[in-house]
Amino acid sequence: MLDRKLLLALVPLLASVVSVSAQGTTCNATSPCPASAPCCSEFGFCGTETFCLGGCNPLSSHALDSCMPEPVCENAVHTFPDLSRVLSNATYFGGNASAYDWVVDKGNIMNTNTSGGELALLLTQDNGGTRISSTRYIHYGKISARIKTGRWGGVVTAFITMSDIKDEIDWEFPGATTTEGQSNYFWQGLIPDPRNGNTTTGLTDTFSNYHDFAIDWKPDSLTWLVDGNVVRTLQASTTIGPDGVKRYPSTPSRIQLSIWPAGIPSSPAGTVDWAGGMINWQDPDYVAAGHFYTLIQSINITCEDPVPPSADVTSYVYNKNATAFTPTINFSNLTTINGASSLLDIGGPFGVKTSLLVAVVFGVASVLL
Ligand SMILES: *[C@@H]1O[C@H](CO)[C@@H](O)[C@H](O)[C@H]1NC(C)=O
Ligand SMILES: *[C@@H]1O[C@H](CO)[C@@H](O)[C@H](O)[C@H]1NC(C)=O
Ligand SMILES: *[C@@H]1O[C@H](CO)[C@@H](O)[C@H](O)[C@H]1NC(C)=O
Ligand SMILES: *[C@@H]1O[C@H](CO)[C@@H](O)[C@H](O)[C@H]1NC(C)=O
Ligand SMILES: *[C@@H]1O[C@H](CO)[C@@H](O)[C@H](O)[C@H]1NC(C)=O
Ligand SMILES: *[C@@H]1O[C@H](CO)[C@@H](O)[C@H](O)[C@H]1NC(C)=O
Ligand SMILES: *[C@@H]1O[C@H](CO)[C@@H](O)[C@H](O)[C@H]1NC(C)=O
Ligand SMILES: *[C@@H]1O[C@H](CO)[C@@H](O)[C@H](O)[C@H]1NC(C)=O
Ligand SMILES: *[C@@H]1O[C@H](CO)[C@@H](O)[C@H](O)[C@H]1NC(C)=O
Repeated sequence: MLDRKLLLALVPLLASVVSVSAQGTTCNATSPCPASAPCCSEFGFCGTETFCLGGCNPLSSHALDSCMPEPVCENAVHTFPDLSRVLSNATYFGGNASAYDWVVDKGNIMNTNTSGGELALLLTQDNGGTRISSTRYIHYGKISARIKTGRWGGVVTAFITMSDIKDEIDWEFPGATTTEGQSNYFWQGLIPDPRNGNTTTGLTDTFSNYHDFAIDWKPDSLTWLVDGNVVRTLQASTTIGPDGVKRYPSTPSRIQLSIWPAGIPSSPAGTVDWAGGMINWQDPDYVAAGHFYTLIQSINITCEDPVPPSADVTSYVYNKNATAFTPTINFSNLTTINGASSLLDIGGPFGVKTSLLVAVVFGVASVLL
């Protein structure tokens, strides 16, 4: 066994090693990354290693193949009897989607261990909210999430798909109303047409009751469902503009769930209003638990790639434009692992594989939370 104190002492060391690659210039499609730091992260900064994993934008990176290939979709029903499939800090992910189903991009999680286990995403005044992302991507298919939302004004619960070029499909739940869910979609991060959003009303309290919120994403239509009932359908053909460009999500996406503070002073007034006002940090629920939260009981993923992958396929890669503004997505059998965690490979005295070391470090850290 590894010594616990030693592991804790290592945490800041590992952090400082990782942050070296964070020194990056900004990037976008017109100003992509240089060869020396080829990967444009989700947040628009150039770097290597972890910058090349989930969220790395191929169109803003040095070359179309600078980002690591994206782990291919796998049918699964994810439940949370414990936290063993959730890596508690995405910075330590090395691209092995068999090792973890989810990574925590920011914030804090808990396992409630009732009714077979529930994953709680926490919001505190200090943590700025919590977001998890799937380690695998989905390129069309059905995703159903059985969740209970927050019920507090200014607190938003979200269940979305997000591609690396920012195609996005949403279910969002502003906490002031617990009988509604809002559906929306975005194409390549473009400011959406306000008509893209729609509200589903008349749900039984989404804080007290589990509902199955689903997204059925096909190449030619997008359907949002609640408890198996279709509440909205969008035909892809209706998204074609006068310029002939189809502004419809078409690129492999990660599944993300989050709870985030919209009702805070730094948010635009419109966002605060939409979310139901400023957050009351004296709310009795917050005072009692020490956090706001959303609960996830299960997430059911059914892949429907336009062409089913053969057994040797590991990943998706971007290729040249198929039509204007729409990149081609191809299967590949290249590895998705870049060993971002090799940065942490201090080798020598420990004689353990880095991924194991990292898992142990965070196993210990999460006990202390
Ligand atoms: C994840 O790890 C990085 C690097 O050590 C650190 O900067 C960050 O604060 C950590 N995130 C969380 C939520 O603990
Ligand atoms: C892209 O990045 C460059 C360099 O940082 C910046 O000058 C430019 O304004 C950015 N373009 C857009 C559309 O954001
Ligand atoms: C969850 O509860 C079950 C019994 O209900 C128990 O066997 C299991 O060890 C618990 N898991 C955790 C992570 O506490
Ligand atoms: C990826 O993770 C799985 C499950 O933990 C493990 O069996 C496999 O060896 C790992 N692959 C690599 C290349 O590290
Ligand atoms: C919302 O979607 C439903 C079903 O597709 C449709 O009937 C309704 O007009 C839409 N409402 C708005 C405001 O777009
Ligand atoms: C998962 O979704 C698929 C497709 O909708 C469905 O056939 C299956 O029964 C679901 N599994 C569970 C456990 O809900
Ligand atoms: C794809 O098309 C867009 C718009 O026509 C263009 O700006 C971009 O450079 C193209 N990308 C590639 C890789 O051909
Ligand atoms: C990528 O897929 C397209 C069709 O979707 C195909 O025409 C093209 O040859 C493929 N490219 C590679 C490199 O496999
Ligand atoms: C995977 O690799 C084999 C050769 O090693 C190749 O024949 C096959 O076409 C590849 N599959 C894909 C999807 O690239």
